[in-house]
Amino acid sequence: MKALSHDVLIVGGGLAGLRAAVGLCDRYNVALMSKVHPIRSHSIAAQGGINAALANNPDGRDDTWEKHAFDTIKGSDYLADQDAVEVMCREAPGIVYEMEHWGCPFSRFPDGSIAQRPFGGAGYPRTCYSTDLTGHVLLNTLYERAVMKGVRVYPEWYVTALATDDGVCHGVAAFDLMNGEIVPITAKATVFATGGYGRVYFYSTNALINTGSGIGIAYKAGVPLKDMEFVQFHPTGLIGTNILMTEACRGEGGYLVNNRGERFMERYAPKAMELAPRDIVSRSIQTEINEGRGFDHPLGTYIKLDLTHLGEKKILAKLPGIRKICIDFIGIDPIREPIPIMPCQHYSMGGIDTNAKGETEVRGFFAAGECACVSVHGGNRLGGNSLLETIVFGKIAAGAVDEYLSLGAASPKEETVLRAARETERKMAALVAGGKEKTFSLHGELARTMSANVGIFRERAEMEKALEEIGRIGERYRDVGVSSPDRHMNYELMNAVELEYMIEVAHTIAHGALLREESRGAHSRRDFPKRDDEKWMRHTVARISVDGSVGISFRDVTITRYQPMERVY
Ligand code: FUM
Repeated sequence: MKALSHDVLIVGGGLAGLRAAVGLCDRYNVALMSKVHPIRSHSIAAQGGINAALANNPDGRDDTWEKHAFDTIKGSDYLADQDAVEVMCREAPGIVYEMEHWGCPFSRFPDGSIAQRPFGGAGYPRTCYSTDLTGHVLLNTLYERAVMKGVRVYPEWYVTALATDDGVCHGVAAFDLMNGEIVPITAKATVFATGGYGRVYFYSTNALINTGSGIGIAYKAGVPLKDMEFVQFHPTGLIGTNILMTEACRGEGGYLVNNRGERFMERYAPKAMELAPRDIVSRSIQTEINEGRGFDHPLGTYIKLDLTHLGEKKILAKLPGIRKICIDFIGIDPIREPIPIMPCQHYSMGGIDTNAKGETEVRGFFAAGECACVSVHGGNRLGGNSLLETIVFGKIAAGAVDEYLSLGAASPKEETVLRAARETERKMAALVAGGKEKTFSLHGELARTMSANVGIFRERAEMEKALEEIGRIGERYRDVGVSSPDRHMNYELMNAVELEYMIEVAHTIAHGALLREESRGAHSRRDFPKRDDEKWMRHTVARISVDGSVGISFRDVTITRYQPMERVY
């Protein structure tokens, strides 16, 4: 086995990974590894926009980064670290203008300035957009920049393990899908930008690639995870496929309507209505459904997202992608008919524990984007802050890597990455020799358990049931077998490797949720309906123990200037 070697290895080809690569490739030998081609990364699916207080814009003249920070912190239910939020919001306008200067085709106001729309939980129309394809245009802009600057890309390479030794990261082991080989790779610095874990849930807006295995890999290598119990449910996923119906539908004026014809948000958030933060809107929709005010459909019970009053011209100009998805996937034209929606998992607020520079407690190992928990979203992320986080913290992580390397990082040990690669070989051989269990059915059971028992509303007995079920799935995983020994483009084999990490991720989510005896942001417990700042205004940090169980410790939330208050909208 021969090891490859790079100064910096970035894992993940979405916005955070690309921005980190662009920030480092002038000075270092940088490689970017992605299990799909970078422009198929899930950042492409982001629709509605990216937040920034652009003070010279028509509707935002007195908007400021401080107001953006306040909205973000209140939205987070006061769990976000305020110093990190301040960094993100202060950087936001510069990041948006930088992307504009790199060629990103933002939609425009008539005066030529970057167009902004209202989004949930925001005091201003602060969300910059490109119709309903914002992630698409940002990702293509950054990918072109990475190509122009000569970043070495390894597409369709799946990282199977992190190689660490004595608190230092030396690189990874990876599965080259095309050649079917396991390759050890040394790097002085490794950056994970591997995205979220949406597919740990059954109902999710996320792409099938969003398994969260990067988070599980870090965890198994001893890197702690933070606030894993905080899972975002987006209010409006299309029934059946759960494809995202962007918050921009409501930002542009769409209504949510129950089977009595009521705009029911009036009962839950009388001022903000449909533009309350996502945790509140998702709970409201779920309550309407649970109390019998939804609509029945063979694909599930739904609520109507009504855009018909917006008119054809506005829908074609602002939401063309949404219209096309509705026509293609459910045969409904939103110009004429309301869209049937239900809430579903959308975003991973918890993740790899990092500081505001993207550093983890393992030297030489950094994380940015959705796989990381900085934490800037705390208990509930505001729409439009995720694209922002990816680019801001991709850039900041690049700065931290540069600093780490400039201070003379130790040479990575080849023996450590060889060991990780041999371990992957052993695992794959066992899967190929394997037993009667199938990855797809165990994955299905895991995801159904998580959606049913660790969802929008939570309760002790259900979470205990989830934990038992996850334990049983973990046992059965030992008997997984794959159908073909051929390694070339063997997705079944890759998915089987990923499933082990998904089980760990699900375990930390359910464990953290059971432990946190309060309701905060998206973590809503029927048996503990109130926020408890006295006991629970702190982060949970999960670390794998030698026996494989989850060890939890706590960390104080950083408060700068925004004191906790009741969240009313
Ligand atoms: O609804 C949306 O367009 C999603 C945006 C986000 O998750 O930030």
